[in-house]
Amino acid sequence: MRTQVGIVGAGPAGLVLSHLLALAGIDSVVVESRSRDEIEQTIRAGVLEAGTVDLLTETGLGERLHREGRRHDGFELRFGGERHRIDLVGLTGRSVWLYPQHEVLSDLIAARLAAGADIRFAVTGTALRDLTTDRPVIAFTDADGTPVELRCDVVAGCDGSAGPSRGAVPASEGTLHVRRYPYGWFGILAEAPPSSSELVYAHSPRGFALISTRTPTVQRMYFQCDPQERVDDWSDEAVWAELQARVAGGGSTLEEGRIVQRGVIPMRSSVCEPMRYGRLFLAGDAAHTVPPTGAKGLNAAVADAHVLARAVESSYRTGSTALLDAYSATALRRVWRVQHFSWWMTSMLHTPADAHEFDLRRQLGELDLVTSSEAGRRLLAESYVGPPLVVGREG
Ligand code: DHB
Repeated sequence: MRTQVGIVGAGPAGLVLSHLLALAGIDSVVVESRSRDEIEQTIRAGVLEAGTVDLLTETGLGERLHREGRRHDGFELRFGGERHRIDLVGLTGRSVWLYPQHEVLSDLIAARLAAGADIRFAVTGTALRDLTTDRPVIAFTDADGTPVELRCDVVAGCDGSAGPSRGAVPASEGTLHVRRYPYGWFGILAEAPPSSSELVYAHSPRGFALISTRTPTVQRMYFQCDPQERVDDWSDEAVWAELQARVAGGGSTLEEGRIVQRGVIPMRSSVCEPMRYGRLFLAGDAAHTVPPTGAKGLNAAVADAHVLARAVESSYRTGSTALLDAYSATALRRVWRVQHFSWWMTSMLHTPADAHEFDLRRQLGELDLVTSSEAGRRLLAESYVGPPLVVGREG
């Protein structure tokens, strides 16, 4: 089998890339180890940056997002018993949208299949070969058991941090930067009315908590926990008591309800540098991961897909590989900005188990700085709504 761009992984990076390439008249095949159901039902964060929303809207994927998603013009920081609003629109002229990742993926899959795309779900044994030649190969076994060799001009590794793409880069050809945090997030979905019209990021001496939402009747909330925490050790009452204690202050309490799902999310930052090996180009989580604070993962994947699609298109149109050769450096400039923001939000809001009074007071000083100075608020707001898809062109 042959295609122009072989894409490993049908997550945000792979599907957006396939979509953008198709709009430019470039063929791709997407190879995915999970089933379509699994992809569409795995619950992930739901904050879309302004640039992500623009890109989806401009390329014909904004219809359900604008109908069912919710625009958020600000968010709240809660600390020291007080509430502080970050007015995204007032500070940046832009908003973010709450629309969960699995809904974005459902829309992308539906659009790609309607356009006749070749997406192979539930494949096994994916392996990458001949990456340093001009005819790289993705080998896999189809869902019906047929072995396939897919020969491509370019391979896009969009299969997450544990997929075969990141593993195909020899250790001598790149550096993997990894930072682990001594925290996890205990996440719940609860059948309850919203407790706040905007997202709440709360700092407390007991640790971080985040109040988010999914629908008018289902709420998403998280609190910082030990990464080894066992969710079944917690009764619903204990979960609610912990959340209430962490967001207390400013006269508000959480609306409680039945907890219908729970799980622990690990916290890790990683960057694979460069994001290229021969004809293999890494995008999204295959190239870099962020801790969940600020919900940047999907947005970072979409930005990579945008940069890579333009580079591939330019190479077919002009015959020059200049943009492909610049892909890693162009993408990494934005990646490190997002790495900084995710690390910053995490370290500003989470309290280490062995925190000294000094550490807590210093965090409160930092939170005071970013909320009481307009320059501080703007810095936070600009990063939260997201840098441009290609960093380096800000006015
Ligand atoms: C959500 C997750 C995040 O990590 C975040 O910063 C905001 C919202 C969410 O799941 O809704």
